[in-house]
Amino acid sequence: MSQLENRIKVERENLPKHIAFIMDGNGRWAQQRKMPRSFGHNAGLDAMRRVIRFYGEVGIKVLSFYAFSTENWKRSQREVNFLMNLPIDFIEQDLPELMERGARLIYSGDLTKIPKKTLDAMRRGEKATAQNNDLIINIAFNYGGRDEIIRGIRAMALEHKEGFLQALNEEDLGKFLDHPELPDPDLIVRTGGEQRLSNFFLWQAAYSELFFTEEYWPDLNEELLEKILGDYLDRNRRFGGL
Ligand code: IPE
Ligand code: IPE
Ligand code: MG
Repeated sequence: MSQLENRIKVERENLPKHIAFIMDGNGRWAQQRKMPRSFGHNAGLDAMRRVIRFYGEVGIKVLSFYAFSTENWKRSQREVNFLMNLPIDFIEQDLPELMERGARLIYSGDLTKIPKKTLDAMRRGEKATAQNNDLIINIAFNYGGRDEIIRGIRAMALEHKEGFLQALNEEDLGKFLDHPELPDPDLIVRTGGEQRLSNFFLWQAAYSELFFTEEYWPDLNEELLEKILGDYLDRNRRFGGL
């Protein structure tokens, strides 16, 4: 038994319940190979599959993936179009495996701005997996942390009307965010060398552990995934206490 397998057994209750990934570095990975950025995004989708397999087997219950930010619309039309097609590929190719794994597909972000063809596929994936319970895969798509908080405040104000200020507190606003049923991420992993959140999970990251690696997202392999988990298990989370 590998050292990690042993630790997973012994420290099962300390394992992260929710790991979130900022999948960065696809473009640079492709550039390194003198290939178009789209080649990197396809390789990025493969890396996402590896994470789902590996951490799914480990028994992590929620995996979130930052796939398209509210700022990514600034990229070329060509790249945006390519990124808008990736969810379609994922659902067309991976639905059988998701079903086999008992994985449920959900989304964070403002989906009202997503092209119809993409949104139809995303909804199809969500519907088909709605009864699955072993693993939640949350894709953040047209997601921005600030946008999510503003949408939440608006929804809460609409519901509470004049009582809004009275009702406004952390717990209740949290219920108006995209997925109040999910635990906050215990761990946020960013590949690609940048050490920033880029508008990801601003509310939910309050006490997340952060892990940054220079590796480009498409280079993510099981060895690094093991290292990330081992590193997390070594940390001491105090949440402001002693
Ligand atoms: C993927 O990495 C993240 C997405 C926005 C899809 P990038 O496309 O940002 O790759 P780099 O950072 O330019 O290398
Ligand atoms: C963050 O990556 C967004 C996603 C991974 C979807 P970016 O490449 O867009 O972030 P910046 O521009 O380097 O901050
Ligand atoms: Mg980037």
